[in-house]
Amino acid sequence: MMKEWTQDERYRVLKSSEDVRDIYEHICKSAYRQIYHIQPVTGLSSDPNGFAFHQGKWHLFYQWCPWGAVHGLKYWYHVTSEDLVSWKNEGIGLKPDTIYDNKGTHSGSALPIGNELYLYYTGNHRDENWIRTPWTCAAKLSDGVPAKLPEPLFGPRPDHSEHQRDPKAFYNAERDTYYIFIGAQTLDKRGCVLVYESKEPLNGWTFAGRLAVPGYEQFGGMWECPCIERIDGKDVLIFSPQYTKLPGRSESTNHNVYLIGSMDYDTLTFTPDSCYRHLDFGFDFYAAQLAANADTSDRNVLIAWIGLPDNHYPTEEEDWEGSMTLPRELRVKDGQLLQTPVSGIEKLRTQELVPNGTLPAAGELEVHVEKGDFDLNLFTKEDGTGGMHLHYNADEQICTVDRTGLDRRFNEQIGEILDIPLDQQLSSLRIFIDRSSVEFFVNNGEAVFTSHVYPTESECHYTVSKNGKVKMWKLGASVVDDFVI
Ligand code: FRU
Repeated sequence: MMKEWTQDERYRVLKSSEDVRDIYEHICKSAYRQIYHIQPVTGLSSDPNGFAFHQGKWHLFYQWCPWGAVHGLKYWYHVTSEDLVSWKNEGIGLKPDTIYDNKGTHSGSALPIGNELYLYYTGNHRDENWIRTPWTCAAKLSDGVPAKLPEPLFGPRPDHSEHQRDPKAFYNAERDTYYIFIGAQTLDKRGCVLVYESKEPLNGWTFAGRLAVPGYEQFGGMWECPCIERIDGKDVLIFSPQYTKLPGRSESTNHNVYLIGSMDYDTLTFTPDSCYRHLDFGFDFYAAQLAANADTSDRNVLIAWIGLPDNHYPTEEEDWEGSMTLPRELRVKDGQLLQTPVSGIEKLRTQELVPNGTLPAAGELEVHVEKGDFDLNLFTKEDGTGGMHLHYNADEQICTVDRTGLDRRFNEQIGEILDIPLDQQLSSLRIFIDRSSVEFFVNNGEAVFTSHVYPTESECHYTVSKNGKVKMWKLGASVVDDFVI
């Protein structure tokens, strides 16, 4: 039975870590706790926030609601890493403790400048009549401790709806200007991006205009979590359009797409070279964010939430839900993104396994596919029935993933069968299985498919067609599930 939450329960302020110790203790026993993915200590984790490399360390925050698998009062929970493979829980980064963010520190980004890491976030204010005012706020992270600026950088624009949030701050060296992209909605409920600019990171912000994206004036009802980056000489615009259905995506109304094109800061126009593409073809992927990378290398790293707004997952009963994807490295090639699991992820391999039809709880599969149709059935029973089925149709160059065969079905209403259209014939799959998720990297990153999955005890087998050669590793823990709040 799904729990009904009252508003007071969802927006309860966390007074001390002891408030959630009991929840932590019972969720630790869950069979679905992830082994090498970032997951919430308790409650819900959703969007990644404030992802950046700063002074030799990767910082990541995520939207966190401590009380359970419910969207209520949001904190920024902080994790750090030296290599994007092993992560350390650092505790709360930002908490809703000012008048501007009295109902949540909502999503945002980070920008490393000199010795400082600046955090930009949405202060979600609601008044006694529950009328919302989204403020764009900032904080400085010094020695790991964030200090909020006393006043917001700017408030919402009255000529757009109340949906104005998720600041992505960045610096454009050619123009010696800082920019903030805000995910927004017009008054007639069309998704868009608002652009702000300043010569300084923490003050002097002015509204520059609404981003023009020719051809995308009617594309979804709200664009959440926008971000832009120059990758391999092209501008890449990433955002999560919602309140709309898109072709090939069944009944889902939440998506995460990208456009490759050119950004003109004089006219505030992003001109796409071609049609949008899905960042990920899976059931559960949203709110991806690119790291602000102060690393001198040209690495571009992306991470996202394994989960979707307005959806429900079986671990809700256990008072937790959601995790982060594996970080991915991005390249632009032939007009599309190539996404590969972060380099160094092989460090997680603890043992190479002889492929014998049984899956480890946490593991990696590399499948080399010879030409023709292909089938892979993961999480089947011992006799090969049930499970999550990937079928490749070579004539059509389409992989179809069907999760109707799993014992624990969920979110049936958004569809349980999705296609991955490919530009090339299927030749390889790199698959990362954790206790409640699976990520398929197809053809060295041509497409990715991320899904939650909640196999029962007997669903730990697989079958593969003869033209697939499997290598398999057991993967070890990378996130110590410490109770740090
Ligand atoms: C996306 C989102 C953001 C918002 C945050 C609140 O999932 O709705 O737009 O800032 O979640 O948790």
